[in-house]
Parts: sequence; structure tokens; C-alpha cells
Amino acid sequence: MFDTLRLICMIWWYMTLFHPLHADFQCMESDAQDSPITNVNVDWRKMELSWESSRNFSEYKCTIMDRDMEYIDIEVDSPLCSFQEHLNKPLHKGIFFNIEVPNTNISKQCSFLPGGMNGSAIENFSCVIYNIFLMNCTWQAGRDAPADTQYFLYWQKSRDEEKMECELYIKDENFRNMGCVFQNVSIGTETTYFLVNGSSKDSLIQFYDEYIDLYKIEILTAPLNVTTDCTRDSAGCIIRWHPPLTNHVEEPTCFQYEISIQNKDVPKEEKKLPPVTDNRYEFQNYNEKKRYTLKIRARGKSCLVSSNWGEWSEPIEFGQGKDYFIFVILFLIALGTISITFLLYCLFKRFCSFKNVFPTIPQPRDKFSALTDEDIQTEYVNLPTKSHTEEITAIEE
Ligand SMILES: *[C@@H]1O[C@H](CO)[C@@H](O)[C@H](O)[C@H]1NC(C)=O
Ligand SMILES: *[C@@H]1O[C@H](CO)[C@@H](O)[C@H](O)[C@H]1NC(C)=O
Ligand SMILES: *[C@@H]1O[C@H](CO)[C@@H](O)[C@H](O)[C@H]1NC(C)=O
Ligand SMILES: *[C@@H]1O[C@H](CO)[C@@H](O)[C@H](O)[C@H]1NC(C)=O
Ligand SMILES: *[C@@H]1O[C@H](CO)[C@@H](O)[C@H](O)[C@H]1NC(C)=O
Ligand SMILES: *[C@@H]1O[C@H](CO)[C@@H](O)[C@H](O)[C@H]1NC(C)=O
Ligand SMILES: *[C@@H]1O[C@H](CO)[C@@H](O)[C@H](O)[C@H]1NC(C)=O
Ligand SMILES: *[C@@H]1O[C@H](CO)[C@@H](O)[C@H](O)[C@H]1NC(C)=O
Repeated sequence: MFDTLRLICMIWWYMTLFHPLHADFQCMESDAQDSPITNVNVDWRKMELSWESSRNFSEYKCTIMDRDMEYIDIEVDSPLCSFQEHLNKPLHKGIFFNIEVPNTNISKQCSFLPGGMNGSAIENFSCVIYNIFLMNCTWQAGRDAPADTQYFLYWQKSRDEEKMECELYIKDENFRNMGCVFQNVSIGTETTYFLVNGSSKDSLIQFYDEYIDLYKIEILTAPLNVTTDCTRDSAGCIIRWHPPLTNHVEEPTCFQYEISIQNKDVPKEEKKLPPVTDNRYEFQNYNEKKRYTLKIRARGKSCLVSSNWGEWSEPIEFGQGKDYFIFVILFLIALGTISITFLLYCLFKRFCSFKNVFPTIPQPRDKFSALTDEDIQTEYVNLPTKSHTEEITAIEE
């Protein structure tokens, strides 16, 4: 009777806890069948290992180990080990547990080995937070996953919160989920758990899971309101800015800045100054006859802020530069052009009035007409001669 109940319990336990993960949790029975440690159980959400013992021991030692042989030991005085504080180990590679009673040969080994078809789990999972509140997670389908495999992403912001499914999937051309867009992410202190599992008609799909500290994947926005203050009398230029916006850090001392100043006349020569922690920098080598382009980016120095450089601010320009002289020259050229045009116009006007005095242009045409007249005249001159001859002939008749 007891055994039947236990069997039912076991079946229920397997179904509720491990069915979603398609995994296999097993404990090895030692040679002696009557091991005092029984009913080993894992609460994956709380990351608690519990068991029953037929004898009262004053001390137990639990060990948890992953495939990379990294392990954690915990000593407890009751049959419950909580790895919550220590364990951010993904489960998809498999995990091993060991419970032993110190100073005895009593121990129990259990393992959790995920099921599913090899090569069906997603690959290259990565997430990035940008624009303060937005997060993108992307992945690639497993290389051996069946064509009809559909993937689903679940995440758990902290251990006390429920797993939530992605609300807005990024899909490929075959409507397969290849990523997820999160539209309102807040960065907390707790490590966030991500799980991507899948389903297919043909086979079981392996899951993939990972723990991520959200602050580490944030791309910081650019520092705000960058201004320059270059006064003619002082040798330097004061550059000021405000820290970038984030949704979790207000402390200005959490950031470090990189300033890039580029002389516009030498575009290849970019000057990256060593990181500064102030919100202010005095640019000493300022030469007001030059023109500069300035941009700034930030990264976390301490606090829970990403230590990767964030976005560059929009470049701003300062300094009078050659542009000023070019402007003056351009102005002079424009003025000159206008004067010359005006002069030419006056000259043209005068030239036009001379035209009436010396009409030189029609002359060649007159010459040509004169020539034609001469020819006609010649013919005209000959004609009367002929008619004159005819006349004479007529007289002879
Ligand atoms: C173990 O000790 C508890 C009290 O500490 C007691 O209630 C229980 O019956 C004991 N179990 C066994 C198997 O001795
Ligand atoms: C522990 O060792 C003793 C002998 O030292 C043996 O009788 C006993 O069966 C062992 N128990 C287990 C659980 O292996
Ligand atoms: C999957 O690959 C692992 C090694 O990576 C191997 O131990 C296991 O037997 C493979 N499973 C199947 C079903 O091929
Ligand atoms: C994952 O990324 C690596 C390196 O970029 C690449 O070689 C590999 O093909 C990618 N995996 C898949 C399934 O596309
Ligand atoms: C996030 O995903 C959206 C939608 O696919 C895309 O438009 C955007 O460029 C992505 N942003 C980053 C930083 O990857
Ligand atoms: C974003 O989430 C915060 C809590 O995390 C909530 O107070 C706020 O209303 C949400 N904003 C939107 C636009 O959903
Ligand atoms: C994927 O995991 C979630 C959360 O554990 C579970 O609710 C869901 O049924 C799983 N889906 C598949 C296809 O295994
Ligand atoms: C930056 O400047 C804008 C106006 O250009 C102002 O509204 C905003 O408050 C400033 N931001 C900070 C952090 O001072």
C-alpha cells in the first residue's frame, strides 16, 4: 500500500517537475538497498535539494556539480540544501548532485540529464539592452533541428517571480521564432534566467538555458547635453556633459567617460583621451584657429553598470577654424563676383549704345548684296547689247 502511494507520488513528481524540460532526473541506488536517504527532490525554481532520511543525522553535506566539473559544497543540519545563493548554473548541460553524511559511508548520487535530440537546441543565444528600456534576445535554430521546430522563450526576472513567455517574437521567413523583443525591461540586482525550449512533431527538442546579469548586457546611451565653452582669453576649452540615462542607476559617480577630439583639418588624427570620471574636462591644447569635432561615450566604473563602452554622443563642432577664413574669403569672392558682374553689365550697356554709331555687323551682308547687284547689273548691261544686236538684225531684214 505504502509502495503504491510512493510510486504514484514518484510518477506525479516526474511529470510535474521534469516533463516541461524533457529531462531525466535519476538517483543511483547504492549496493545496500536500504540507504537511509530516500525521496531526493529538486525544486528547480527555488534551487533546493531535499530528501528524506530514515535515521536522524546531525549533519549532511551536499555537492552540486556541472559538466565542467565546477562544484559547490554546502553543509547543513537538516535534509534540505538551498543552492539559491550560489547557483547560477544553466541546466541544459546536465547537473550532478551528491548527498553524504560526513564520517560515514552513507551517500547518494543523483543526476539531471536533459533529454531530446542532440543538435536540436538553439545556438548563439545573446541578449542586449538598448535605449534604456528595450531588450533584444536572438538565437539560431539548432543545426540538426527538424524543419518544423518552433522555439519558445521563457524568462524569470528573479527567483521570486514567475516564468513569463516572450510577448513579441522576432520571426524568420518560415515563421520560426528566432528572437524576442522586450519593450519594458528594468534592470535589477538579481540574475535573470532565460530558457528557450522547442517543439516538433518528429522529435523531442533539447532546451537551452542561461543566467544573465542584465546590467552587463546594456549598451549605455550617449552622455547627454554635451557643451563646450571656449573663451578667447583663456587657453583652454571647458567641455561639460551629463551622465547617460539608465533605468537603474542615478549615481553620477558610477560612470567613466572617453572623450574623442578630432581636428577637422587632419581627419585621420583622432585624439582619444584617457578615461575621465568627472562630468567636465578642460581641453588644454585648444587652438582657436582650428576647428574640432567632439564626441563622448560612457561606461560603468563601479556600481552595477556595464563596463563596455556605450554609444558615442552626436559629434559637435567647436573652434573658429579655417572655416572662418574660408567664409571670409568666400564672402570676398562673392563680393568680387558681384562687382565684376555689375561692371560687365555697365560695359555691355555702353557697348550696346556704340552699336548704333558703328553698325559693323551688317557690313558683310551689304558686301554680299553689292556683289549680287553687280552681277545683275552685268547681265543687265549685256542684255541691252544683245537686244541692240537683235535690233540691228531686224533692220537688216
Ligand atoms: C528524528 O528527530 C525528530 C526530532 O528531532 C523526531 O521527531 C523524529 O522522530 C526522529 N526520527 C527518527 C527516525 O529517529
Ligand atoms: C557502510 O559500511 C559498512 C561497513 O563499514 C557496511 O556494513 C554498510 O553496508 C555500508 N553502508 C552503505 C550504505 O554502503
Ligand atoms: C548526445 O551527445 C552526447 C555527447 O555530447 C552523448 O553522450 C549522447 O549519447 C548523445 N545522445 C544521443 C541520443 O545521441
Ligand atoms: C553560431 O555562431 C558561430 C560563430 O559565429 C557560427 O560558427 C555558428 O555557425 C553559429 N551557429 C549556428 C547554428 O548558426
Ligand atoms: C532589436 O530587434 C529589432 C527588431 O528585430 C531590430 O529592429 C533592432 O535593430 C534590434 N536592436 C538591436 C540593438 O539589436
Ligand atoms: C514598465 O514597467 C514598469 C514596472 O517595471 C511599470 O511601472 C511601467 O508602467 C511599465 N511601462 C509600460 C509602458 O509598460
Ligand atoms: C517550455 O518551458 C516552459 C516553461 O518551463 C513550459 O511551460 C512549456 O510547456 C515548455 N514547452 C515545451 C514545448 O517544452
Ligand atoms: C539637456 O538639455 C535639454 C534641453 O536642451 C533639457 O531639457 C534637459 O533637461 C537637459 N538634460 C539634463 C540632464 O540637464
